[in-house]
Amino acid sequence: MSDKEQVIKPWGGRFTEPTDAFVERFTASVSFDQRLYHHDINGSLAHAHMLSRAGILTEQEYLDIAQGLEDIREEIISGEFNWSVSLEDVHMNIEARLTEKIGISGKKLHTGRSRNDQVATDIRLYLRDEIDNIAAELTRLQQGLVTKAEEEASTIMPGFTHLQTAQPVTFGHHLLAWNEMLERDYSRLMDCRKRLNQSPLGAAALAGTTYPIDRAYTAQLLGFDAPTENSLDSVSDRDFAIEFTACASLLMTHLSRFSEELVLWASAQFNFIDLPDRFCTGSSIMPQKKNPDVPELVRGKVGRVTGHLISLLMLMKSQPLAYNKDNQEDKEPLFDTIDTVRDSLHAYADMIPAIQANHAVMAEAARRGFSTATDLADYLVVKGMPFRDAHEVVGKSVAYGIAQQKDLSEMSLDELRQFSDIISQDVFEVLTLEGSVNARNHIGGTAPNQVKAAAARAGSKLQQR
Ligand code: ARG
Repeated sequence: MSDKEQVIKPWGGRFTEPTDAFVERFTASVSFDQRLYHHDINGSLAHAHMLSRAGILTEQEYLDIAQGLEDIREEIISGEFNWSVSLEDVHMNIEARLTEKIGISGKKLHTGRSRNDQVATDIRLYLRDEIDNIAAELTRLQQGLVTKAEEEASTIMPGFTHLQTAQPVTFGHHLLAWNEMLERDYSRLMDCRKRLNQSPLGAAALAGTTYPIDRAYTAQLLGFDAPTENSLDSVSDRDFAIEFTACASLLMTHLSRFSEELVLWASAQFNFIDLPDRFCTGSSIMPQKKNPDVPELVRGKVGRVTGHLISLLMLMKSQPLAYNKDNQEDKEPLFDTIDTVRDSLHAYADMIPAIQANHAVMAEAARRGFSTATDLADYLVVKGMPFRDAHEVVGKSVAYGIAQQKDLSEMSLDELRQFSDIISQDVFEVLTLEGSVNARNHIGGTAPNQVKAAAARAGSKLQQR
């Protein structure tokens, strides 16, 4: 970014001395808000079109403005545009350049609007597009999860509570649990998008404008559902950015949970999965290391996103109506949240389909952990024993198994009958891992046929997006 000498500030009229050089840098936002240029230009095009339709600008003035703005868009894309800190922000940089290019018509663009409604419009337009980009990555990740869940519908692994082996589940079922979290994240993002999709343009500085503007028309041109109802609220509240960041924090929290499991599973101690080399890095000192950097980084990044949520909440807290310069501070946390969530989803969408499950290791882990103990208790209950007594019998059997280093399914019938004589040969059907998962055969259960049906339902939901 370079600075033009002696820039005339668009608001300079009532000032008798130039802005202090440090204050100029301190108050400028152009270094980070220039990324709004595309949406700023689109907002200006809609505004100018409306002004000409209302007879506030001539047709020729509108055409000059439109051409000038499109040329500026090209200059920015090609990197020729000269951003100036003295011109404070993206809005004044573009407006000043427009006037430089087309003369007096450029100065008329700002008729009936203020930077206050302009920036409120720009952020909404920008965030709306980024929500769509994020939603596309999220959908890609979910498609990968659902496909993998179908493939792994019959793969048995230990299910955990307290990170202790609890009951056998299928790997497909576990993956679909992740998908459910993401499905809710998607619907939260869509709710947020719907609420933000109202046009603040025309609220002007805070009270509206005396020109005969047509807010419904600019709203329609920009793809908003309607103009906002109240000009004071329109220029001041950033609740849509807070809401988005809250959705993003939850989404990142979910990704951090997946990450934690992937990191554990990829360790030599679990060895449930292999992460492809292209998603891992090595150690500069320990040659044997293959570190799960992508999941670890994503797990770490939830911190910054949740931090941004707190920043935005604190930024908004206690602000009196209407616009305050405080709101310029909304951009960096919001932008970083967008980038972080989009990139994390991108990495996950690429990585999930490439995960290799170590089926034998997963099954062996399920067997070792007495994961069918509940099945034995349920078996005894079916045979007429009260559940509390059954719990006791199975507890004793497990203690015996630990001492003998035998899983329940590896004990002989005589060994099992030491603990209850109502146990008979048919017990072995429920003590196998397959018998255990197959028995949980209802909607939401882990039985392979239920997992296949759930994956099919999840897949067709994704197709309807
Ligand atoms: N750069 C400002 C922001 O991001 C634009 C609005 C400035 N409005 C004003 N009255 N100073 O909020």
